[in-house]
Amino acid sequence: MYHFGLIGYPIRHSLSPWIHGRFLAKAELQGSYELFEIDPALSFESEIKKLRDLNLDGFNVTVPFKETILPYLDEIDQEAEAIGAVNTVVNKRGKWIGYNTDGKGYIRSLVNKYPFIFDEKSKAILLIGAGGAARGIYYALTSLGCKHIDIANRTAESALSIASLASDSTRTNILSINEAEVELSNYDLIIQTTSVGMKPYPERTIMQLDHLKKTSIVSDIVYQPIETKILREAQNRDAFIHFGHTMLLYQAQYAFEIWTNKRVLVNDMDEELKQLLKG
Ligand code: ATR
Repeated sequence: MYHFGLIGYPIRHSLSPWIHGRFLAKAELQGSYELFEIDPALSFESEIKKLRDLNLDGFNVTVPFKETILPYLDEIDQEAEAIGAVNTVVNKRGKWIGYNTDGKGYIRSLVNKYPFIFDEKSKAILLIGAGGAARGIYYALTSLGCKHIDIANRTAESALSIASLASDSTRTNILSINEAEVELSNYDLIIQTTSVGMKPYPERTIMQLDHLKKTSIVSDIVYQPIETKILREAQNRDAFIHFGHTMLLYQAQYAFEIWTNKRVLVNDMDEELKQLLKG
């Protein structure tokens, strides 16, 4: 029997119990996935102690504890350490080891839709936003060997901090949102990671796509709504698009793999997840 869970706040509407419940069934494993909502007003230390006593096999960590959890880990994976945040913990013989599945999960979801996308490492990539998710995605892209990844963000300092994660072979320019809007035709892949366009303001969009090339891919990690305004506009301009909800499935796939050593297929869950998100 496996026992998994999620810590965060608020998490009552999390889809993770549904996703991992399906994964357990697919992998023909017995187990459970429980929500452990931790009120940020309580002592995190004593809540974590209670969690340790439960001896879970693994758990996910979400907002606002992805950084708070770091001092309570026994080991941290290199990628999570570079990103400075953990969203998955595995219990290996009583030792808690922290991982971050955002970046690899994102890459898996993109490669599933566009299998040859990273065959050409010199594709020009524009990352819009410089929050936690952007950090994970940037790290994964530079680890893959992508040579040109620019970052556009409202606040230049956060973008600069992400650019410091670059490997030797990655070139990164920092742009303002307006500069990126004008330079958009330079990019083959545009990844939108800000919260702009998310419910309850789905009519908002981070930038206009007047300069978008038809051959480019526009990817948005926002999944509420599933089809954001920027994706609709990209589609109207005959560009390629990539939906954010698929990242949810693939980062969970990678977490489940860390816990059980089994990689489940997730393609058949896409439609059902869309319906759940719409509901
Ligand atoms: P996450 O961890 O989910 O990626 P986050 O850390 O809150 O989220 O990051 C949010 C991102 O959205 C940031 O890049 C933020 O820009 P700043 O670094 O300038 O704060 C961006 N963002 C949020 N609201 C925005 C807005 N109205 N206009 C432009 N950027 C916005």
